[in-house]
Amino acid sequence: MAEKVAMITGGAQGIGEAISRRLSKDGFAVAIADLNVEKGNDVAAAIEKDGGQAMAVKLDVADRDNFFQAVADVVAKFGRLDVLVNNAGLGPTTPIDTITPEFFDKVYHINVAGDIWGIQAASEQFKKNEHGGKIINATSQAGVVGNPNLALYSSTKFAVRGLTQVAARDLAKDNITVNAFAPGIVKTPMMYDIAHQVGQNAGKDDDWGMQTFAKDIALKRLAEPEDIAAGVAYLAGPDSDYMTGQTLELDGGMQFH
Ligand SMILES: NC(=O)c1ccc[n+]([C@@H]2O[C@H](COP(=O)([O-])OP(=O)(O)OC[C@H]3O[C@@H](n4cnc5c(N)ncnc54)[C@H](O)[C@@H]3O)[C@@H](O)[C@H]2O)c1
Repeated sequence: MAEKVAMITGGAQGIGEAISRRLSKDGFAVAIADLNVEKGNDVAAAIEKDGGQAMAVKLDVADRDNFFQAVADVVAKFGRLDVLVNNAGLGPTTPIDTITPEFFDKVYHINVAGDIWGIQAASEQFKKNEHGGKIINATSQAGVVGNPNLALYSSTKFAVRGLTQVAARDLAKDNITVNAFAPGIVKTPMMYDIAHQVGQNAGKDDDWGMQTFAKDIALKRLAEPEDIAAGVAYLAGPDSDYMTGQTLELDGGMQFH
């Protein structure tokens, strides 16, 4: 049995991959749960090559049964679960008049329902193990203040902060903490895609699209995925034991509260 186990959704690339590698360095056996299981297997193999313990599991976070099965698979392999990072998400560019009912359903199912299924599946397991646990949800700076062109994305990420607060209150009695992390502008495939779309919509280039989001960063640099993984490592470790319901903003100083 592994000593401590973390499951990271969307762990096959971008921020989720960086979180998987960081939590492995911090001593967790890590389960990379992703739609793209081939890439998940590559990340797991790289972590094992570096001396860590890792597995990949195929997961569509929007599918509740699939989420419960994936948690069961992780526990079958590693013997327990201590941390769930609900990191998977979609970040489409959706000017208000482009939103269709189908797209609304798709994005809300992945970004919001996916977190609910994860909270259900992980907390059921934590209660069985009788040792509590930590749930960590990905929101965004766009979930703290509305961002132009991102009506669906921003609104789902606001919902994630609300869900985090409610789950923190509901699950505290079971020794489960629930927190969120809000990345700023991170160099991942998702962010490059958003910058491209926003630039195109305005008849400008990708750099202009990126600057739309990046111009107000006090530290004057975009985030590396590892900057975000460092904050998640804190939320996953014992130093955050007295923190629940909070959103940790990791945005280089884009906004202050
Ligand atoms: N990149 C940024 O600047 C930024 C900023 C703020 C918040 N975030 C949030 O951080 C999280 C990770 O973002 P990223 O930039 O690394 O994204 P990304 O698009 O680069 O990677 C997302 C990963 O999630 C997986 N995934 C997508 N849908 C899935 C599903 N239904 N089930 C399981 N896995 C699925 C993908 O296969 C991929 O491996 C997201 O929740 C995102 O909203 C990102």
